[in-house]
Amino acid sequence: MKDKTEKAKERHIPAPSVESIRDLILEAKKKAYAETDHEPEPELTSAVEWPITCTVGPGLEGAIACESKVGYVNGSKGWLIYRGYDIFDLCAYSTFEETSYLLLHGRLPSQAELTEFTTSLRERMFIPQTQRLMLSFPVETMNPMSALRLGTNLMRQKQTYRDTDTEADLKVGEILATDDDSIPMETRPPGKKNPVFEFLTGLFKRVHPASEDALVGSDEIESCYNLIAGVASVAATIGRTRAGRIPLEPLPEYGLAGNYLYMVTGRRPTALEERIMDISLILHADHGMNASTFASMVVASTLSDIYLAIGAGISALSGPLHGGANVEVVKMLAEIGDPSNVKKWFRETTAAKKKVMGFGHRVYKAYDPRARILGPISALLTENDETRRKTYATAVALEDAVVSELGAKKIFPNVDFYSGIVYSAMGIPQELYTTIFAVSRVAGWCARVVEYLENNRIFRPRAMYTGTFDETYVPPSER
Ligand code: SDX
Repeated sequence: MKDKTEKAKERHIPAPSVESIRDLILEAKKKAYAETDHEPEPELTSAVEWPITCTVGPGLEGAIACESKVGYVNGSKGWLIYRGYDIFDLCAYSTFEETSYLLLHGRLPSQAELTEFTTSLRERMFIPQTQRLMLSFPVETMNPMSALRLGTNLMRQKQTYRDTDTEADLKVGEILATDDDSIPMETRPPGKKNPVFEFLTGLFKRVHPASEDALVGSDEIESCYNLIAGVASVAATIGRTRAGRIPLEPLPEYGLAGNYLYMVTGRRPTALEERIMDISLILHADHGMNASTFASMVVASTLSDIYLAIGAGISALSGPLHGGANVEVVKMLAEIGDPSNVKKWFRETTAAKKKVMGFGHRVYKAYDPRARILGPISALLTENDETRRKTYATAVALEDAVVSELGAKKIFPNVDFYSGIVYSAMGIPQELYTTIFAVSRVAGWCARVVEYLENNRIFRPRAMYTGTFDETYVPPSER
């Protein structure tokens, strides 16, 4: 009888190479393209003459809120593109930095621009003062997404421009933060008396008339760069603090994905781990007018500032119906325990009219292309570990059960179904999974906020009033 180690040795499959991951993604693309055509939906991809007529369901289902060039989700075909580039190609060939640049600027960067942008994001991940401020809060016991929103606000706290009308009281010298990681936040243009804060921008027009010596707008994209880099550092700091460790600073040899992994685990990631995290950040970066993107845009449309707008996105993403589903999926798979329990568990779940986490989607009525990428990657990552292999096998059995029963209702796996298995295989604690979603989606939130503000109109839908009329007021003594 072979012992476990011998069996494991026999089974030991060499760790996949970074190149093999690209092949796996291109294989998944081929399968997707074989199963569905990739024609854009004319009713969702044509320029419009406002006002338009659309059929709107509860939860604004079907409502068209704006035009956008940032990205498109073809729900009926299971097709996702960012600025015209297919998500399979971006995951196969791009990096999260390059994809963020594409989402923000609308084109792929030149090699020189990419090198400069990647270096700039790495430098902006260096936020020691914000990390120090975070340690003065009980981050280790806070909900990770509320800690992430706190950290984003602490990044903003360098925003020492006045939030009140009494700008006269504030002397520029006093409001200059001494915080060394605020330096990128404030630049003093040559010859100017006052520093310039990047969030006070041409787009985020100040509510107060700019007095002569007030801070003047600069490039709003600076804020987006700070947020894309800073949210990754804040998320890693949360993971480190929850593990009872001190926060780490980014290393020069890694990009954003590798530095996130290093800063959260304290271990230098392998090239494969770095590449898989990079791919995961690419495929979560943007997804049309999902709830958290819409939340960010609504806040920004009031001309609030981008830090608070991104905070709204973080808040919306935290819900289990949205970004929080990836944590619920791994808990659900642990509860099922084994592929042999799936049928019974699924029967009981549907009988109780409960939803299966990681399945279904408001827009996708086909297989989520992101799940088509994360599924095979999770298979690769779990091959060499018996427990993880069982988790993956349970997931596959559950997918078969759900799709055979609910596929006719267009219920398929979504992005959250396999992402948790991937993160768990990389040693990331499950309570951080949704913060990783935010680390990626901050790029899409920023891109859509900046785009919307170019033709801003405050979001203000109506509600159908179905209450009473002509009520007579009766004083409390007569009620
Ligand atoms: C994300 O919007 C985005 O783009 C989001 C996202 C992004 O990248 O930003 O893609 C990320 O949020 C993915 C979704 C993660 N959430 C989950 O996995 C939670 C489980 N999924 C469901 O809660 C649900 O599918 C939603 C919330 C995702 C979508 O809900 P809808 O569009 O409001 O659909 P619904 O609740 O009205 O359901 C329609 C029907 C119902 O059956 P009937 O009452 O008509 O008979 O489909 C059924 C539902 O019961 N259904 C499910 C189901 N999801 C829908 N049945 C079982 N399990 C499910 N998961």
